[in-house]
Formats: sequence, structure tokens, C-alpha cells
Amino acid sequence: MNNFSVRNTTQIHFGKGQIAKIKDEIPADARVLITYGGGSIKKNGVLDQVHTALNGYACFEFSGIEPNPHFETLMKAVEIVKKENITYILAVGGGSVIDGSKFIAAASLYPNDPWEILKTYGAHVADAIPLGCVLTLPATGSEMNSGAVITKAETKDKLFFDSVHVLPRFSVLDPETTYSLPTRQVANGVVDSFVHTVEQYMTYPVNAKVQDRFAEGLLHNLFEDGPAALANPTDYDVRANLMWTATMALNGTLNTGVPTDWATHMIGHEITGLYGLDHAQTLAIVLPAVWKYKKEQKKAKLLQYAERVLDLRTGSDDERVDAAIKKTEEFFESMGNPPRLSAYSLDASVIPAVAEKLTQHGHVKLGEYGDITPEDVKEILKLAL
Ligand code: NZQ
Ligand code: ZN
Repeated sequence: MNNFSVRNTTQIHFGKGQIAKIKDEIPADARVLITYGGGSIKKNGVLDQVHTALNGYACFEFSGIEPNPHFETLMKAVEIVKKENITYILAVGGGSVIDGSKFIAAASLYPNDPWEILKTYGAHVADAIPLGCVLTLPATGSEMNSGAVITKAETKDKLFFDSVHVLPRFSVLDPETTYSLPTRQVANGVVDSFVHTVEQYMTYPVNAKVQDRFAEGLLHNLFEDGPAALANPTDYDVRANLMWTATMALNGTLNTGVPTDWATHMIGHEITGLYGLDHAQTLAIVLPAVWKYKKEQKKAKLLQYAERVLDLRTGSDDERVDAAIKKTEEFFESMGNPPRLSAYSLDASVIPAVAEKLTQHGHVKLGEYGDITPEDVKEILKLAL
């Protein structure tokens, strides 16, 4: 196992009725900006629950944070934060609302052009407005991590930043808020959580038994409860397990002391930036192709996954690896996220554009060995047509 240092200070309130707890977290004299998306929280009653909990607080609202949140939209919220002297931000929604709110929190106190936050991966963020979250879509882990992904619509640049200053102070995870999710978003959440887990697992062995078995446990949950959530949308236990699985998949636990890949995410972000596909759709396209392209380097872990997660125990090593990749593709397909570009009306003409964007962004040494160049990405995407 490699050396590591770890700390995560986000207070989690998990379960039914926990939205009421936000009043214990936010100071009574705070000026609170409630941030949200296109209005799902008005329809499912979550915004009402938030207002009930914050009765008596000075509350303001900023809505319209779109999926794959836009820098241009978020800068309008930064103006409100400054004008109204906001002292606390409460993000209510999925990963896009939470990521967007992290950016608002940092940009409001940033001395330079806020786009610099993305260009420097958050390296110079020195402060941020305190942030709390009410999560309504289990997927990104943003509710318990310090990362955020923001898109500049004007240039189609989708970039991430990371800063301990935007780590949520607290997050409420009430599985009942997820009952209203459309099928597509449930499926997206399962695929995103799956790919987060394997980006931190499907590399090479370093004898990290806790991390490996933890990851394998989360993958078992996703194979079990992903389809179950589609079949029975209001099964509380299924929703609860999916929600906690998604959070644990990207809260700084799995990556302790192990090599990580993240090539699929980096390539996927460019596809979303350029063509607007959902984040999880891009991951379903790219991940199996990365595994096929890097089969030899990843073989030991692919075999471990085949045996421990998929119970594939017969056939040669190559046969078990191929069967494991195929079963993963079938899982994505069954969750409504087909693993090929053509399923989203994209063809080989997108390949040079994706490679060019990666080059522009300096993402030219991807994967756990840093050996995936834009030329390799072209070969990977040819395996995903
Ligand atoms: O905007 P509203 O009306 O709320 O509707 C949203 C949105 O249309 C809807 N939704 C959310 N909760 C709902 C609901 N509809 C009904 N009932 C509910 N309870 O779902 C739609 C998609 O929401 P979005 O927040 O975009 O989805 P997700 O949580 O998958 O977030 C995706 C974003 O997170 C980034 C992605 O790149 C993408 O921009 N990521 C963030 C990460 C992080 N911060 O660590 C890591 C991830 O890898 C990922 O890159
Ligand atoms: Zn993701």
C-alpha cells in the first residue's frame, strides 16, 4: 500500500426527515443563498422542507443552475452574493448544483478573474463562503468531496477544480428526495458511481486490501441495487443503499494509498463539453474502451474483478478478462447507457476534436501510468464507435 494522509470534515445527516437538521448547522444570523437547478425541488417538495427548516432566517434564492453548470450562469449568482452580503450557501440538488455552488462560494471571494480558478485547478483558492448541501441525486460524491466541474459555454471548456475551502460543511442525504428522479438520472447516478469506483480500483495491485474489498463491496451494491431502483423507484432501502454507495465512491476513501486512473473521466468531460452528452453517458462509452486498450496493464485487477465481483472463475485469463469487460458493457446497456458513441448519434468525426481539446487543456499524460496521450485517446475512441 502507498503512503497517504486523509481527512474529511463534512458532517453527514443521513435518512428520512433529516432536512430539518440544516437549522442546527447554519448560524441563526446567517444570510443564506439557497441555490438550485431547473425546479425539480419545487415539484417534489424539497424546497418547501428547506424553507420550513430555515424559518426565521434571512434567505435568498438563486435558481437555474443547469446540468454541467455554466460559468456564465454562476457568475450571476456571484453578483447576488456580493450585493446581498451572503454568508452561507445552501446547495439543493444534484452534482451540478453542488459543483456550481462550490464555484460560487470560491469565486465570490476570489481576487482575480474567477475563470483562473479552473485554469489553475483551484490551486490559488484561499477562502470560500461556507457551503452546505441537500443532495437529491446520488451520483457524483460532490456532497462529500472538494472537487467541482464547471463548463464555460462560450468556449465549450469543461474543467475541474479542487479546494479544501469548498468541501461542504455538511450534507443532508435523505433517500426519499430521490424518489422523484427520472429513470435516466437514476441510471446516470449508478453508472457514474460505478466508474468512480473503478477509476480508483482498476489499475494495478499494491496489496491495499481495505481499499480493494471496499471498492468490490460498492460494485456489488451497484450491480444489485441499480436495476432494483429502476424496477421499484420507491423502495427506501434500495434508494438508501444507492445513495450511500455513491457518496462513498468519491469521498476520498477509495483512493487512499492506491494508484488511480481517471482517464475515462478526463476523456468523458471533453465529450460532454463538446457535444453535451450526460456525464454518465460519456463514461459508459469510454470506460470499456479504456479497459480493452489497456487490458495487459490492467490484467491483474481485471482478473480480480472478474472473480470477486462477477464470479467468473472458468476459462483462461484472457477469456475471463474479456467476459468481465463484456458483462460491464451489458450492465451499462441494461442501465440505459449504451457503451458506444453511435448510440448517441456520434461517429468517428468526433475523435480528432476530443483529442485536440485534451491537448489544449494539457491533459496529455492520462491513466495510472501517465502514458495515455491524445494519440492513444484516438485509438481508445475507435474501440468505442
Ligand atoms: O435542475 P433540476 O430541476 O433540479 O433537475 C435535475 C437535472 O435536470 C434533475 N434532478 C436532480 N435531482 C432530482 C432531479 N429530478 C427529479 N428529482 C430529483 N430528486 O437531474 C438532472 C441532472 O442533474 P445533475 O446535477 O446535472 O446530475 P449529476 O448529479 O449527475 O451531476 C453531474 C455533474 O457533476 C459533475 C459532472 O461532470 C456533471 O457536471 N461531476 C462532479 C464530480 C465531483 N464534484 O466530484 C465528479 C463527477 O465525476 C462529475 O464529473
Ligand atoms: Zn463522474
